[in-house]
Amino acid sequence: MKDLLQNHRVIVCTGSGGVGKTTLSAALGVLAARMGKRVLVLTIDPARRLATTLGIDQGADEARVPGQSYAGVLHAGMIDQTKIFDDYIRRYAPQQATVDALFGNALYQQLSTTLSGSQEFTSLAKLVEASESGLYDLVILDTPPAAHAVDFLQAPQKLNAVFDSTIVSMFMGRTKGFELASAAWKMSVKLLLRTLNFVTGSEFVATFNGFFTAIDAIAPNIRETNLKAQQLLLDSSTAFVLVSSFDQAKIMEGEAFHDELSTAGYHLKKVIVNRAWPAWAEPGSAQVLETQNHLVQSGQNALAALHRSLCAYYAERANAHTRFTDVVKLAEFDSEVVGLQSLEKLADRLESV
Ligand SMILES: Nc1ncnc2c1ncn2[C@@H]1O[C@H](COP(=O)(O)OP(=O)(O)OP(=O)(O)O)[C@@H](O)[C@H]1O
Ligand SMILES: [Mg+2]
Repeated sequence: MKDLLQNHRVIVCTGSGGVGKTTLSAALGVLAARMGKRVLVLTIDPARRLATTLGIDQGADEARVPGQSYAGVLHAGMIDQTKIFDDYIRRYAPQQATVDALFGNALYQQLSTTLSGSQEFTSLAKLVEASESGLYDLVILDTPPAAHAVDFLQAPQKLNAVFDSTIVSMFMGRTKGFELASAAWKMSVKLLLRTLNFVTGSEFVATFNGFFTAIDAIAPNIRETNLKAQQLLLDSSTAFVLVSSFDQAKIMEGEAFHDELSTAGYHLKKVIVNRAWPAWAEPGSAQVLETQNHLVQSGQNALAALHRSLCAYYAERANAHTRFTDVVKLAEFDSEVVGLQSLEKLADRLESV
């Protein structure tokens, strides 16, 4: 695991819902900071107590994680969709008037958070910004739960389609866009505009036009950022880590993710099977040996035998059900992993594999 952190500039933690992506992004961040790296962990929707541990519960954009003493330094950031989208517009709008027009536009307020692809876009825009900033040696990106691995990575393309200047042109009634569009599409745009006008009055159409006029000025940047993000994700300096959990359904989802990522050309470097066994049954651990010795020495032979067979069962179970190669297995801890100490325990384990 250390080689992976040593040799990459971006790590993307992916996997299906609830498997431990956010927790492991943070634990990998701890390990990389211990190795001397300047690290940023970009989390999505962390549990409240984990956000507090990372110093980002007050809505901080990027914060130095409190209470650390590592060779490097660990920073954390939260992907706040609305804020990042707004920042992006502020940064790329050609003039203040465009910013004002957009922020005051009711449609923008609706669309910036609900448009298909906008959450993914904001994450990737933030990733590109952080990795270009020169402030970090390594950026670790957590991802939202998704049914398919490539959903997240390719969703921004949907946003491209919305902001595509051809479509913008059509809405704005420019002939260039109309020449390229099919007759059916032209008809539906006209009909849509007419219906909107009829249903909601001319105010809506004015809002609509205002939105697209302002967006027209930003659309090239959105496309460029998406392009940069895709290049970065496919670059050999970016590694994907697939997190899976032990139960059969999660393993199967993980296998589907694995195949999708590999087929799409992303560099999937490691699979982490989280919660592979309870912490007390960690194969080869000092704790297992100590418990065995204690039980035998105190004459509790039946318990010693039960303990031995349970440990053997967990070790065997974890090997039996997966066709992943290059797997790291992690224990299930007794309590939630929310404090810096428990992240460090996870980092210890990640360090040793
Ligand atoms: N190895 C572990 N042992 C014990 N608890 C764990 C372990 N890994 C994760 N957890 C706990 O499981 C819960 C879910 O973890 P986490 O939020 O990291 O998953 P996620 O994949 O990011 O979820 P989502 O897909 O909803 O974003 C958290 O409460 C976390 O503390
Ligand atoms: Mg999460």
